[in-house]
Amino acid sequence: MSVRRATIEDAARIAALSGTLGYPVETTAIRDRLERLLASPTDIILVATMPEVVGWLHGTDHEFLETGRCCEIVGLVVDGARRGQGTGRHLVAGVESWAAERGLDRVIVRSNIVRAESHPFYERLGYKRIKTQHVYRKPLGNAPQCSDSE
Ligand SMILES: CC(C)(COP(=O)(O)OP(=O)(O)OC[C@H]1O[C@@H](n2cnc3c(N)ncnc32)[C@H](O)[C@@H]1OP(=O)(O)O)[C@@H](O)C(=O)NCCC(=O)NCCS
Repeated sequence: MSVRRATIEDAARIAALSGTLGYPVETTAIRDRLERLLASPTDIILVATMPEVVGWLHGTDHEFLETGRCCEIVGLVVDGARRGQGTGRHLVAGVESWAAERGLDRVIVRSNIVRAESHPFYERLGYKRIKTQHVYRKPLGNAPQCSDSE
């Protein structure tokens, strides 16, 4: 298994894996987003290959007014049939290297309380739980731009 930067050709596999996470999404939508995100200097999308894509990670470098810059893992999924083989660990190591090279001092990730498998995973990788949050949502009437599972 190896980890590399995603390309536009990975859109279909990324979409399929996103569906398994509870975010059903068309390949065309992923392709559109990839086009923008792959051009963004503050985002990184990694894929793990075997040689087919078996996992992906989206990391971002953002700056908060109060707390400054940090890297956040905003998406990560490994194929359900390929879990427990080090794929998630390799993807996270990849984003950590990217963040360290950019001079960032930490990586954060918000993990849904229902994603029980991710909690021991992050702890095994050295991440410490620092707080628990509620997430609120209010539709604005425009056509939906994002889908977030309940
Ligand atoms: C969480 C997830 C990415 C882990 O990927 P993975 O490829 O199975 O993880 P790895 O095989 O790299 O595991 C790395 C370490 O975490 C541990 N780990 C992984 N899943 C675990 C689990 N469910 N329970 C206990 N430990 C676990 C492994 O034992 C391993 O430790 P080791 O290297 O010391 O043996 C994967 O389960 C997944 O895609 N889950 C659904 C989506 C999700 O929750 N994403 C995170 C959103 S924030």
